[in-house]
Amino acid sequence: MCIDGPTASGKGAVAKLVSEALGFAYLDSGVLYRLVALQALRAGWADDRLLSENDELQLAQWAAELDVRFDGEQVLLNSENVALDIREERVGNMASKIAVSATLRSALLERQRAFAQGAGLVADGRDMGSVVFPDAPLKIFLQASAEVRAERRYKQLIAKGFSANMVDLLQDLNERDARDANRTQAPLKPAQDAYILDSSDLTLLETVDVVLKMYAQQVGNI
Ligand code: CDP
Ligand code: CDP
Repeated sequence: MCIDGPTASGKGAVAKLVSEALGFAYLDSGVLYRLVALQALRAGWADDRLLSENDELQLAQWAAELDVRFDGEQVLLNSENVALDIREERVGNMASKIAVSATLRSALLERQRAFAQGAGLVADGRDMGSVVFPDAPLKIFLQASAEVRAERRYKQLIAKGFSANMVDLLQDLNERDARDANRTQAPLKPAQDAYILDSSDLTLLETVDVVLKMYAQQVGNI
């Protein structure tokens, strides 16, 4: 099952709970882009860097050599737990900037597909239904208004101990939406056969419930 959508629409939290309810594996594809972004930032890349051809090759190399392990809540990059580091807004913003690169996207493609083993998979991101898993039995495009999403991200960042303010968050979110939607490679838009679900007025658990019902209707077996 694929759950795509814009930033802070809730796709990660929903996908994780749905995967647990179904006993499926879970892929947060944004983490892969964030891990490469973290390496770029650590290598000193500026936020406004214009990507050269060599930069794109460097990104693809980082992606190909990505030594990552997921252990519960931990995200181990070369054995270092970077679970918190990759959640910083500047990492999300850099992830969105490098994600325009076709070279990087294709370097990450097979790694994402390798998660589809065993009973089933719930994958969340931007292009799970449109590019990475075009034959998925259920595709959902999760939306929520920009204001609701900024507030959700605000609460989430504060709970993790980061500082945040709503004005900057709303601006970052609108910029990121525009960049993700307007790029030529795998732009943020619902797959043709995706169901659009607006969670603006739903709690997390209500959203999970709707998704599980959609899955039962579409695919059965639960
Ligand atoms: O959680 P949030 O939606 O803020 O971000 P994320 O899913 O972790 O993704 C970070 C950035 O990586 C996004 O803004 C996208 O530009 C990019 N991304 C992508 O291009 N394709 C994916 N399948 C997942 C993420
Ligand atoms: O992965 P994405 O960036 O789309 O968002 P997320 O990190 O899964 O969700 C952002 C925050 O919104 C989390 O703290 C979720 O628990 C929360 N959320 C919510 O309050 N109501 C929903 N219907 C869905 C998510």
